[in-house]
Amino acid sequence: MTKADVLLGLQWGDEGKGKIVDVLTPNYQIVARFQGGPNAGHTLEFNGIKHVLHTIPSGIFHEGCINIVGNGVVIDPIIFKKEIDALIKMGVNVKEKLKISRKAHLILPTHKLLDAASEASKGNDKIGSTLKGIGPTYMDKTGRNGLRIGDITKPDFRKKYDFLVAKHAQLLEFHKFSYNLADFENDWFEGIEVLKSLDHVDSEYYINDALINKKTVLAEGAQGSLLDIDFGSYPFVTSSNTITAGACTGLGIAPTRIGEVIGIFKAYCTRVGSGPFPTELFDNTGEELRRIGREFGATTGRPRRCGWLDLPALKYAAMLNGVTQLMMMKSDVLSGFETIKVCTHYNYNGKTTDIIPYDSIGENIIPVYKEFKGWKNDLTQIENIEEIPEELNNYIKFIEDQLGIPVVIVSVGPDRKQTLKRERVTV
Ligand code: GDP
Ligand code: IMO
Ligand code: MG
Repeated sequence: MTKADVLLGLQWGDEGKGKIVDVLTPNYQIVARFQGGPNAGHTLEFNGIKHVLHTIPSGIFHEGCINIVGNGVVIDPIIFKKEIDALIKMGVNVKEKLKISRKAHLILPTHKLLDAASEASKGNDKIGSTLKGIGPTYMDKTGRNGLRIGDITKPDFRKKYDFLVAKHAQLLEFHKFSYNLADFENDWFEGIEVLKSLDHVDSEYYINDALINKKTVLAEGAQGSLLDIDFGSYPFVTSSNTITAGACTGLGIAPTRIGEVIGIFKAYCTRVGSGPFPTELFDNTGEELRRIGREFGATTGRPRRCGWLDLPALKYAAMLNGVTQLMMMKSDVLSGFETIKVCTHYNYNGKTTDIIPYDSIGENIIPVYKEFKGWKNDLTQIENIEEIPEELNNYIKFIEDQLGIPVVIVSVGPDRKQTLKRERVTV
């Protein structure tokens, strides 16, 4: 029996998970998403093509790899259809390679409206949601009202849909939110027809059978550990467990069946949406990180907030996930900065700590930085890890020492090829 490896983001999302899943997929027979939904935007670049996936796993471009949308994922039929259409146009045999859990929940048009109504009612305290209906859909899941993929082929599906929509209409009335449902319903039911045409599976059986038959499985996380519903900066989080434990519940893999845990992080930090971000830079350096790193959301196009690497937060994420290997992304973006800073501790209410405080909002938390000498070299053309500047090597070694986990990949550009292996990746 093999074990499933898990790959996830250790920060606030957009770490470069999509790129690395695509790079690692040749080592795996199955790639499976376990949580989140179209709030995710996973970018892949190869052969001059740039592609953003939202719900479909990032192994979809490789021959011989089965891609599974697990039970923990929430699916918007409208966005899903668009993703499928785009892939078919690119010649991807989606029908053969994609399987969807019968237990995955559906995002209704009214879930999206409720997301918008909830955000509007919060005013300045809004979460900064991607407005894809994620929160309301997970609310209906835990509230035991949700509709699932397995329901769409049942004769009473329309009845169940109408019942839930009527419930949502009452909530929207409470919010005094005006809308026209007809604007979305046609597209939504078209999407349902596309979903019907795909392969529905009991993915927990499918994956466990695969593991028994010694197949290799990679679970692909969405969002990041600091957006986790339990451990993120609540309430400025997403509505699912983004950590390794989420792969257990979101795919039906027992904890004893988890193998490597691959933690992806950027060489600096970004966050999109509201919420605490102790190392955020509001100055020219922050602007430069955003410009050079092209830090604009893959799903919403919003500018990402940028700042220095936050080690207490990274250690926290590594602890929660049981990370066994680290991969550092966007190292190329740091080229040219005179000095690179890393937050090693916080000064919190006058005391030095590396624990994430319960209220880590705003002024009461001051990052304590260690400074590193920068480098001038362009890293994007480097093909061998031995060629990276010594200053970058020092930076990586410091992070490894602090976390006690090896950095096995250093990414130096968005393309598949711009990936430097530091040590053999154990798979
Ligand atoms: P994900 O959500 O974790 O899959 O990440 P996103 O796709 O939302 O954001 C990562 C962005 O950085 C994408 O535009 C990638 O193409 C890009 N990217 C990934 N790795 C690197 C890298 O090493 N260097 C640079 N410059 N860009 C990268
Ligand atoms: P990937 O998988 C970055 C953020 C939103 C908002 C909060 C809640 O591409 O890394 P939601 O729509 O889930 O209710 O929004 O979470 N967020 C992400 N930020 N990357 C993501 O996904 C995100 N998915 C959600 O900006 O702050
Ligand atoms: Mg993203």
